[in-house]
Amino acid sequence: MAIDIRPIVKEEIPAFRHVISQAFGGDAVDDEESRQRFDDQVDLGRTYAAFDDSRMVATAAAFTFDVSLPGGAVTPMGGLTMVGVRPTHRRRGLLNRLMTAHFDDCRDRGEWISGLFASESSIYGRYGFGDAAPAIEVEINGPAAGVPAATDGVRLVDIEEARKAFPEVYEQIRPQRPGRLSRSEPWWEHRHFRDPEAWRRGASGRRYVVAYRDGVAVGYCTYRQKEKWERGIPSGTVRVGELFGIDAAAQLSLWSLVCSVDLFPNVEADMLPADFELPMQVANPRMVQRRILDGLYVRILDVPGALEARGYSVDDSLVLEIEDTMGVAGGKFRLEVSHEGAMCGATSDEADLKLDVATLSSLYLGADGAGPLHRVGKIEGDIHAVRRFDAAMRSDIAPSCPEMF
Ligand SMILES: CC(C)(COP(=O)(O)OP(=O)(O)OC[C@H]1O[C@@H](n2cnc3c(N)ncnc32)[C@H](O)[C@@H]1OP(=O)(O)O)[C@@H](O)C(=O)NCCC(=O)NCCS
Repeated sequence: MAIDIRPIVKEEIPAFRHVISQAFGGDAVDDEESRQRFDDQVDLGRTYAAFDDSRMVATAAAFTFDVSLPGGAVTPMGGLTMVGVRPTHRRRGLLNRLMTAHFDDCRDRGEWISGLFASESSIYGRYGFGDAAPAIEVEINGPAAGVPAATDGVRLVDIEEARKAFPEVYEQIRPQRPGRLSRSEPWWEHRHFRDPEAWRRGASGRRYVVAYRDGVAVGYCTYRQKEKWERGIPSGTVRVGELFGIDAAAQLSLWSLVCSVDLFPNVEADMLPADFELPMQVANPRMVQRRILDGLYVRILDVPGALEARGYSVDDSLVLEIEDTMGVAGGKFRLEVSHEGAMCGATSDEADLKLDVATLSSLYLGADGAGPLHRVGKIEGDIHAVRRFDAAMRSDIAPSCPEMF
């Protein structure tokens, strides 16, 4: 019998949660809080499943986000999530079909880009996704790093104060860096303020910290503590959740706190931007050990729409020939950019550069890379055109998406 793909209905939510939990090796927790979390976050119209003779065998859903772009604008983005295929039905083309359904859904909603976090970096390039916001993971020896003392007041606060201060700070910092996502109130509540035991991985409950300057919140962070003693020596770890400041000084005040918690000399954090500032601010940067991973993947679904939505800091005009093997967004386009904005439309003029849609998508949020992508053959064209393209696309602040979805 043919496998049918369609949005699910309310009664099918338990089966959907069961299939996706098993795909990631867990079991759906069937308590009230988990059910509520799903209901509050998931739009059933964007929650697809594949059915084999009425049995659910594959899942995919999308969150509806606004994502910040170079220049401070935002654009709507379909955030692909909960993609899973039962082991009995793998490698039969179900992911291909789910991806097509997702792209159609995004385009029907006027979303020019789709975004996701990948379980494996080998999966999504074939669908035109590029790693648009690499993420840095750090391990810090807090006492040895030489973090300067806080210049802003930092306070451990209760959850009520956090609920008030965190969204206010986040809304200020969101447009400052490309790649940050809009957050609804239920999103804040379920993702950032609820704290089920299962999320702690043996560490403490979440601590909430606010940095204040002249009585106004200028930053916040969360962390957990994981206790450890080695032959009587305190060797605990502070695991940082999010850490944001409205400027580098506010951020440094928060790092100063998390790097100086007595009995917890090890500090771990992840999902940080490629231009993460702390190593430039400490006395001993080698104590801030960094590892780079792929972060938010982006897939452009409409080249003119996506390129006109973002900002640019140079004046130029280039013709780009974009290859898209899925037939979604390919073509030849003239991109005219200036400080005022951009115009992009189909053209028959000769192309300055040729690249595929995954490569263009990887540069969309302003990450470095046109030069090396040209060296490895992913961008074809004259090096002078590559340099101009690099200057047009690159953001002076590295893109970063601080939370996985
Ligand atoms: C990843 C997953 C969704 C793939 O589903 P699937 O239905 O088997 O994929 P398809 O049969 O549609 O495969 C489509 C193509 O992707 C390739 N592909 C699938 N999974 C892949 C993987 N993990 N790594 C590399 N390529 C992969 C297939 O080989 C196929 O390539 P082809 O078109 O050149 O033949 C499935 O293996 C799964 O559920 N994994 C566990 C959960 C998970 O990782 N989900 C992704 C969340 S981001």
